[in-house]
Amino acid sequence: MAFESESFSLVETSARRELDAAPDVEALQAWRVAYLGRRGRITQILRSLADLPLEERRRLGAAANRLKADLAAAYGERCARLQEAHLARVIEGARLDVTLPGYPLPQGHLHPITQTLRDVLRCFENMGFQVVEGPEVEWDYYNFEALRIPLDHPARDMWATLWIDYERDGQRPMLLRTHTSPNQVRVMEQSQPPVRVVVPGKVYRFEATDPTHDWMHTQVEGLAVDEGISMADLKGTLAEFAHRIFGPERKVAFSCDYFPFVEPGMELRIDCFLCGGKGCRTCGHSGWIEILGAGMVHPEIIANVGWDPERHTGFAFGMGIERIAMLRHGIDDIRLFYANDLRFLQQF
Ligand code: DAH
Repeated sequence: MAFESESFSLVETSARRELDAAPDVEALQAWRVAYLGRRGRITQILRSLADLPLEERRRLGAAANRLKADLAAAYGERCARLQEAHLARVIEGARLDVTLPGYPLPQGHLHPITQTLRDVLRCFENMGFQVVEGPEVEWDYYNFEALRIPLDHPARDMWATLWIDYERDGQRPMLLRTHTSPNQVRVMEQSQPPVRVVVPGKVYRFEATDPTHDWMHTQVEGLAVDEGISMADLKGTLAEFAHRIFGPERKVAFSCDYFPFVEPGMELRIDCFLCGGKGCRTCGHSGWIEILGAGMVHPEIIANVGWDPERHTGFAFGMGIERIAMLRHGIDDIRLFYANDLRFLQQF
């Protein structure tokens, strides 16, 4: 059966109606096969023209090809529109709501010992001291001998020592430093007066632990050597330190104490800020709290590094940072600092 223009317009009308009604990509696909496919309506029409006389074939063939091109264009357009709509739906569904609350990130902070250590160091840096460090594994020489504590000296009992079985060049064995005082000698050996240093670091003791002792703790050593340094400088410096760390209202007192590397040796105490001096458990009912050991550097030590003790004098001090942190925060067991219990650490 041959086609006439009216038949073309009927095909076109139904094709466009169905195309407009196609709700999704699958329906569009089916439409394309039904009209534009190899066995679709348009192809059928074109085939059926083969039997017509030439004139008519030309006329109707041209019309059929135009129809095919029009429908293909309409199909392309409809495809594009459906895709746009699909993309819009996807974007709408995935929209980011920037007003939603975020996930809280756990926030860490410095260990309480690091905090107190930094406060102490800053205090001395502000008074002109330089921060230097020394080795944790130390020679017997620096830890004891150069500090006037020879092998048979009873003062060795002040520091229960963790020894390392090692000897070199006739030097006596190594150990884990029991205090930061060896750095007094190390610093003087490596510099010229004047020196003003503070030396932070870990120290180790071969001791059973209890609420006020641990086998490792943190110390800060101080050393100032220059011409004409006197005990007034020592007292002024340490009183200033105590006031900056524990508050300007604290009373400070110096009393006699013994350390082989200082002469005279002394102890710095502050009035108990818990009981106000009346006496309580923290101050051992004395009203006073020991803060640190100190003294005037023994002239023998100054002479041993090749400086002239007639010309150069100095003072030294050493303190335990855990002890200061315990006092500041009211902590009653030193072992809590290194038990890694976050419930404890998070309080600071
Ligand atoms: N090194 C001593 C200790 O660990 C503390 C000390 C006392 C240090 C007196 C000093 C000082 O520099 O002069 O027990």
